Amino acid sequence: MTTLTGPIGLAGPLGAETASPPEPGAVRRLTCTGIEQVARAVKTFRFAPCDGYDFDYEAGQYVTVLARIDGRDIGRCFTLSSTPSRPGLALTVKRKPAGAVSTWLHDRMRVGDEIDVVGPVGYFTLASDSAASYAFIAAGSGITPVMSMARRLIDAGKGADIAFVYSAATPDDVIFDAELDAMAASGAHVRTILTRRAAPGGPAPARLNAGRLLALVPDLAVREIFVCGPEGFRSMAVDAASAAGADSGRVHTESFVIGGDADAAPGGISDPGGVSAASSATATFTVTFQRRGRVIDCPADSTVLEAAGKAGLSLPSSCTEGICGTCKSTLTGGAVDMHHQGGITPAEIDAGRFLPCCSKPTDDLVVDA
Ligand code: FES
Repeated sequence: MTTLTGPIGLAGPLGAETASPPEPGAVRRLTCTGIEQVARAVKTFRFAPCDGYDFDYEAGQYVTVLARIDGRDIGRCFTLSSTPSRPGLALTVKRKPAGAVSTWLHDRMRVGDEIDVVGPVGYFTLASDSAASYAFIAAGSGITPVMSMARRLIDAGKGADIAFVYSAATPDDVIFDAELDAMAASGAHVRTILTRRAAPGGPAPARLNAGRLLALVPDLAVREIFVCGPEGFRSMAVDAASAAGADSGRVHTESFVIGGDADAAPGGISDPGGVSAASSATATFTVTFQRRGRVIDCPADSTVLEAAGKAGLSLPSSCTEGICGTCKSTLTGGAVDMHHQGGITPAEIDAGRFLPCCSKPTDDLVVDA
């Protein structure tokens, strides 16, 4: 057994050494229990929590995998492709040549190895299983959250009417191929569109566009719609739903985008949690990391994560934009101006949690880290 990542930037017991139930948002250590090639360059990695406690999540949520690669701490978000109504956890990951963590998982992960994850996080979920009919529209790796949701509905046994439209480049790139066939055989309306190379004897390759989508799902407007794929694909599906007359409140898209302007991102949430006094942009505050025994300076116009990095402190992080929740920590003293994008819940903020990646100090801080 190999532990592929250490407890990055954290002190205290983890994984198998944890005696009490893990707190929400805590780093969890998982053991790899199985690896399966599910499409070209795509593997499903199955896991079980080392601490023996349940890993609660909703279909469609994601976790951040924490990895130490070549001496660097890196966090990357991956959707849980497993389904809460079935045993075990799974990540289905496409190997991207420039993707440090995806190549690390593909090339180094073995059954019995352990990894650390933070989460689950994310609001691209079913919320309830009470709608009469659903449309799941996905491209490429975007199938992972919607397949998790579709399975969840099937397992609920309420006879939900499911339309599933999936776009992949070639037959070799179809993820969950056999499962899609089984879903179709059990009565779901499943269509796989191949965009670059057709299956033997199948229809010619063609891109999925709004007209084709509406021809495949003529009653799209009355369904609860979930879309996951690249930006152009998502806008095509959203436009098609809108043209068909769908209520925008019933159209759900995965909106995990890294690299934009966090404060200007659509749907961003500004949370003033814990603002104490008016701060000067030129003021500098101290941040005490209790468990590390380190005190650093943090200018009022710098995030706590940026200041920690400049001081040589490695904190867990991934998106650095308040989305993923990887950096979530507990503030035991002081106050911050936090502008997150859904990576933390109001209940967690009330409990003193904060996200160092999108929080600037308005006071001297004490952090339980
Ligand atoms: S690193 Fe993603 S929320 Fe802070």
